[in-house]
Amino acid sequence: MDSSRRAYLKAGLVSTGLGLSGLGQASQAWRQAFAPSTIEFEYDYRSKTIPAGLAGNFYRIGPGLMHLNQTWYHHWFDGDGVLHRFHFGEQGMRHYGRLLQTPKIEREWRAGKRLYTTFGTALADSEPVYQIDDLNVANINTLTLNKQLYALWEAGSALEVEPDTLRTKGFKAWSPETKGLPFGAHPHPDSDGSWWNIGYQPGAGKVVLYHLNQAGTLKRQAVLPLPNADMVHDFALTAHYLLLLLMPMKYDTNKQCDGGCTSVSRLEWQPQSAGYVALINKDTLTLEQLIETPAWGVFHFGNAREIHSQTGHHIQCHFVEQPDFGAKLGCMGSLFDRQTKGRQANQQVGGVWHELNIDLTRKTIRSERLVQHVEFPRFDERLQTQAHRYTILLQKQNVRNPEFSFDTVLTWQHQRQRLQRFHYGANYLVEEHIFVADPHSNRPEQGWIMGTAYHLPTQRTQLSLFHAQHVEDGPICVIKLPYGIPPGLHGNWVAT
Ligand SMILES: [Fe+2]
Repeated sequence: MDSSRRAYLKAGLVSTGLGLSGLGQASQAWRQAFAPSTIEFEYDYRSKTIPAGLAGNFYRIGPGLMHLNQTWYHHWFDGDGVLHRFHFGEQGMRHYGRLLQTPKIEREWRAGKRLYTTFGTALADSEPVYQIDDLNVANINTLTLNKQLYALWEAGSALEVEPDTLRTKGFKAWSPETKGLPFGAHPHPDSDGSWWNIGYQPGAGKVVLYHLNQAGTLKRQAVLPLPNADMVHDFALTAHYLLLLLMPMKYDTNKQCDGGCTSVSRLEWQPQSAGYVALINKDTLTLEQLIETPAWGVFHFGNAREIHSQTGHHIQCHFVEQPDFGAKLGCMGSLFDRQTKGRQANQQVGGVWHELNIDLTRKTIRSERLVQHVEFPRFDERLQTQAHRYTILLQKQNVRNPEFSFDTVLTWQHQRQRLQRFHYGANYLVEEHIFVADPHSNRPEQGWIMGTAYHLPTQRTQLSLFHAQHVEDGPICVIKLPYGIPPGLHGNWVAT
């Protein structure tokens, strides 16, 4: 970043003024978390508490730039992507974070103002959008394939980023046919080392399927018409299927809104309508089964696997149901307004952890609700499509706390149906925690759990490491950064 832009950025951030008078202390601190004094970070840390042999990069990403000059985004998902690299090696830990230089933010820097209506914020004089990547903020997840790093968004291209410097390289076209098509935010690795992903564009009624090999080359692609395909954030993988939950959320292309429509205002939750489980055959890339479900809203899945037994052929999978999905999506849209006006957010974070059993012979489903107020499921992805012992989740334990935040990390033990949890406390905004394999162990699920949390009173972020088997004992290593980084979405470990 050149010095003039750095100076401009600093002035822009400072001049926004948060207008926080009249807010409770907790809400002030909450909002401050999303208004960092910089979006470039660098910090070196040495400690003997870092586990020996831990070597690699923890990439984390999220909406990091919520405001530019006097304009605030209203929806958390709108913020321009800031990518973080926590590098672990013999020298300790080094944190480095920077704003991704998407074409969108480059144009807005040049203009000195926001230019576009985004996912959840309407701009009265929005510039025309010629292609979906005009709006791509690359702020949801990361993907590393063959030492190439990508920043992923919901409905546009993957953005290639230099893995060490985090310098933005440009949008990735996996093939001439898929250039510019949506490449979603949750690719999953298969047991043979290949990767699967989906992409969707609200209103199109289709899902794009991608199958990539380990080298990051596209093996196969398909475009599949599907019902209820207006928001398909994640999917699950089994030995033979891609499993999608198609929720009754309809995108109204023709809707008229005062002040302009956003994607959020065009998306209408229809709880009286059915949802579907869609099972897509991995060999033929065609829809094999479509089974009706209740109106489940869903962002994220855990693992899934196929089970052959005397009673037939089943799929067992786990997902987080978000009750009243439409209101929750809208709530995140007005979250900053609510906090600014000092009113309590009326939607609790997190949803219900479900175990879903699909009888493929009888084409029936059965689900069991396991844990409440949870989100961000993660597991040892080397066991994707196979049996595994536990899933890592975030939970809001103190549901009376009106702040929009998680306060607890837990592991859900599948076979014993019990959980272990560590409660950070009400002063923390706890972010997604991931599994990190122990390089000295050949056994799956042996390793650590790693995650960040924003401490509201000190406005600083900490990174914590837990023994994966003993989360309730608390962290074995805590690295306190000398600054706060804006609460983000997803992250991934890449061993070196
Ligand atoms: Fe996600």
